[in-house]
Amino acid sequence: MRILRLQTAELTPDQARDVRSLCERAWAAKGGGFDDEDWESCLGGTHVLVEERDAFVAHAAVIERILELDGTPLRTGFVEAVATLPERQGAGHASEAMRAVNELVDGGFELGALDTDIPAFYERLGWVLWPGRTGVREPDGVRLTPEEDGNVLVRLPGRSLDAGRDSLLVCDWRPGDPW
Ligand SMILES: CC(C)(COP(=O)(O)OP(=O)(O)OC[C@H]1O[C@@H](n2cnc3c(N)ncnc32)[C@H](O)[C@@H]1OP(=O)(O)O)[C@@H](O)C(=O)NCCC(=O)NCCS
Repeated sequence: MRILRLQTAELTPDQARDVRSLCERAWAAKGGGFDDEDWESCLGGTHVLVEERDAFVAHAAVIERILELDGTPLRTGFVEAVATLPERQGAGHASEAMRAVNELVDGGFELGALDTDIPAFYERLGWVLWPGRTGVREPDGVRLTPEEDGNVLVRLPGRSLDAGRDSLLVCDWRPGDPW
């Protein structure tokens, strides 16, 4: 097994196709879908790839965004498209990918953040459930995103989280789902 760290621009067309197919199969296996918007959300940063016998078995992407923690803008490594091939799940591959993600976040960003429906998976890996409110910065101001409260996890390299229920974490705008 080896871990690759590739920028989106470094992926060959075949590798990009394989990454997308891995994500589509992982989401299909849990009864969901991985559509164009999901794919676009995981482009433009670093892809962490777990490779076994020349095939990708797990993936996670780290995208640079600006998130505001109680008004302070922080250079954030935002994690997207964490996935393992259905037939290879339960063997520690996504955890391995996330340990490499943690290194990227801790080494290059002021904050790590992600949005998930399975917080327990990330809490085991040193991520902390955001205890406060969430929002997105839109052209005319901050729009709260209460539907995401409880789904966002953060990681603060080198310090512990000082936040409570009234704290506010705001992400930058992007097309589609902001979180
Ligand atoms: C979630 C996912 C990435 C896990 O991949 P994986 O390679 O099987 O994960 P690992 O083998 O590293 O899991 C290790 C641990 O995480 C736990 N875990 C795995 N899937 C989990 C889930 N859905 N919810 C909570 N914990 C989970 C396992 O119980 C295991 O714990 P253990 O070591 O104590 O037994 C994989 O199931 C997947 O691709 N799912 C579909 C896509 C998805 O939901 N991605 C996350 C969206 S944010």
